[in-house]
Amino acid sequence: MYTSSLHSRHCHIQRGAPFWRPLGIRQKHTRWCKMQRFDTVRVFAGEVLLEVKDLEAKVAETGQMILRGVNLTVREGETHAIMGTNGSGKSTLSKCLVGHPDYEVTSGTVTYKGQNLLDLEPEERARAGLFMSFQSPVEVPGVSNSDFLRLAANARRKQLGQEELGPLEFYGYVMPKLAALKMNPDFLNRDVNANFSGGEKKRNEILQLSVLEADIAVLDEIDSGLDIDALRDVADAVNSLKRPNSATLMVTHYKRLLNYVVPEAVHIMEAGKIIYSGGIEVADILEQDGYEGIKSRMREEASKQPVSA
Ligand SMILES: Nc1ncnc2c1ncn2[C@@H]1O[C@H](COP(=O)(O)OP(=O)(O)O)[C@@H](O)[C@H]1O
Ligand SMILES: [Mg+2]
Repeated sequence: MYTSSLHSRHCHIQRGAPFWRPLGIRQKHTRWCKMQRFDTVRVFAGEVLLEVKDLEAKVAETGQMILRGVNLTVREGETHAIMGTNGSGKSTLSKCLVGHPDYEVTSGTVTYKGQNLLDLEPEERARAGLFMSFQSPVEVPGVSNSDFLRLAANARRKQLGQEELGPLEFYGYVMPKLAALKMNPDFLNRDVNANFSGGEKKRNEILQLSVLEADIAVLDEIDSGLDIDALRDVADAVNSLKRPNSATLMVTHYKRLLNYVVPEAVHIMEAGKIIYSGGIEVADILEQDGYEGIKSRMREEASKQPVSA
């Protein structure tokens, strides 16, 4: 099952003017950049993990164009948030990254750890450390969570040259992860997502992420349907799973998630494109003034651009 096993991290958007301006000194693992527009200094850690360039994609069955030129660069150690109105293409972008068969990429490139991601089968993407949690996780009656998780974990471990885990060893491996997520061990014996509440499904997605130890996590509305305590638990778990060489790409509508899992960059998607990027202040503008606030910020900035001769 290719469902959820792809992790993604750092995304960069190129627009007219350079968005990030490197200060010049590049250290092995840490890079300081200055974001010109808001005059805030950020830390960029590590190499480019995922680079999406001019990505266009359509619905395979109907031919409807959804993605219309997405650009995004995600580096190791970074967390990015993608926000945007319903239907703007956020889930489609996430699913194109994991190779969902409903979509066909028609142009553009996606490079992951230096290789052409689009050349890889969904399973290969998962084994290579790309994980996606689905907005509406699928139920798989008849397959126990523990079997599913162990098979997925072993496929990934094999890829990493690690020993595969037998059922008992897996139990020892997964129990601390369950505890960290404040999940009842009974979860292991239940069928994958079958009759799970919305919140349980979201926790189960994070358990998969934890077990797979993915390098880039694409989390599509991981906060939807969670009460405030569950949100905090899930956010704590996402934070605890971050590593210096991994990255997180979160799709969300709400700033409240970003209060817990703080992103380096927030991107606004509209009509299949990322139309605006910035820091956490972008989520603040959105919360206070909605998408009109973003548009007005864009108009203001455009009016300040020097007119070229
Ligand atoms: N498999 C599909 N079949 C038909 N239309 C789709 C499919 N997937 C997405 N769409 C359409 O593409 C647009 C973008 O959808 P989606 O990526 O789910 O948006 P978002 O996640 O930003 O709300 C919507 O208009 C949606 O109806
Ligand atoms: Mg969506």
